Amino acid sequence: MTYRTGRFAAAFAGLALLALAGCDRNEEAVAPVTLNAHEATLYAHSCSTCHEDPATGAPRTHDIEAWTPRIAKGDAQLLANIIDGFNGMPPLGQCIECTAEEFIRLTHFMAAPAGGETNE
Ligand code: HEC
Repeated sequence: MTYRTGRFAAAFAGLALLALAGCDRNEEAVAPVTLNAHEATLYAHSCSTCHEDPATGAPRTHDIEAWTPRIAKGDAQLLANIIDGFNGMPPLGQCIECTAEEFIRLTHFMAAPAGGETNE
């Protein structure tokens, strides 16, 4: 999606209406994300080791139900929890080289339905 003002305003108004109506908010809360090669490497080396292993208690990648209440916290709160750690989630998700933007991209990748597959 391009974020040119006109289109963005229209898309945003549509989203706001959906949110107000309270309908189908849980479906497609996050659009599928396609990771670039660098992000895919970060994901493979850190996030995936826990977020693809149910034994860790981490919300599983592409498990929309598990991610919906997390995403509802908002990106700022999620970023703070990634940086500081959150229960079983280690500080920085064991990715010291990840930037704030990458943390959010990786989170949205995991929280979104499959379809934005890793792009290596
Ligand atoms: C060592 C295991 C581990 C690694 C590595 C890991 N996580 Fe997590 N993560 C967890 C666990 C466990 C939870 C669930 C914590 C809870 O809610 O008790 C979690 C939760 C989260 C949450 C939700 C936090 C919240 O406020 O609900 C986000 C966002 C997240 N992880 C992002 C990431 C990202 C991005 C990476 C890679 C850079 C990553 N994690 C790497 C174990 C891990």
